[in-house]
Amino acid sequence: MQEVNIQFSDIMKTEHPELILKKARPFLDLMMEYQCALMEVETKLNVLNEEFASKYQRNPFESIQSRIKEPLSIINKMKRKGYEMSVESMEKNLFDIAGIRVICSFCDDIYTIAELLTRQDDIILVETKDYIRNPKPNGYRSLHLILDIPIFLSSGKKHMKVEVQFRTIAMDFWASLEHKVKYKKNIPHSEEIVAELKACADVISEMDCKMLEIRNKIEETVEE
Ligand code: GTP
Ligand code: MG
Repeated sequence: MQEVNIQFSDIMKTEHPELILKKARPFLDLMMEYQCALMEVETKLNVLNEEFASKYQRNPFESIQSRIKEPLSIINKMKRKGYEMSVESMEKNLFDIAGIRVICSFCDDIYTIAELLTRQDDIILVETKDYIRNPKPNGYRSLHLILDIPIFLSSGKKHMKVEVQFRTIAMDFWASLEHKVKYKKNIPHSEEIVAELKACADVISEMDCKMLEIRNKIEETVEE
């Protein structure tokens, strides 16, 4: 597929800057709304983290990363999927414009937080993809949720979609290396690398289980 490669300076030559900004307004407004939705979900996660830490003396997640999809990635995905190119269509068809990645130490915490989050009565769970219980053939593991969450604007309430990915630290380490392989062309011995990555994914999964067992043993120990 041909990727879009338009320079901003080229557009500025053909259109009035004021007109460009006016045309871009609906898109910029939508991105602002996704940013608000991210803030809402992040706050909910931080609240759960605080409560969990105070109840159980440990944090359920190590870090949260959030991002709004780059405009060019949005356009390329819309083209790839054959969706009509409009701001309305972006909102209707793409559920990963706003994305949050929650990195946990332990697998059980992933399911606990996911459950506590989706149980909240202002959140609608739109879709679950459990690649932890059902890993992808390449070894990819993560729990993906698509949430519908309201944001409150001056014009009223608006429902927004947010994708939340939960992973352990080890799964995240694996996914970032695998991502490099996927997007780098002409890697020598790539079949071998794919097989090695799959083997690593299995080791990681075993290690995650083992670490959880050890943590449980430590937690079960009664202090004298
Ligand atoms: P999209 O239309 O691309 O959203 O397809 P999908 O909804 O079927 O994708 P899915 O929910 O399976 O995955 C969405 C995101 O998860 C991707 O953008 C990546 O961030 C991550 N992901 C999924 N599969 C893999 C994988 O095999 N390797 C890595 N590194 N990341 C993955
Ligand atoms: Mg998706």
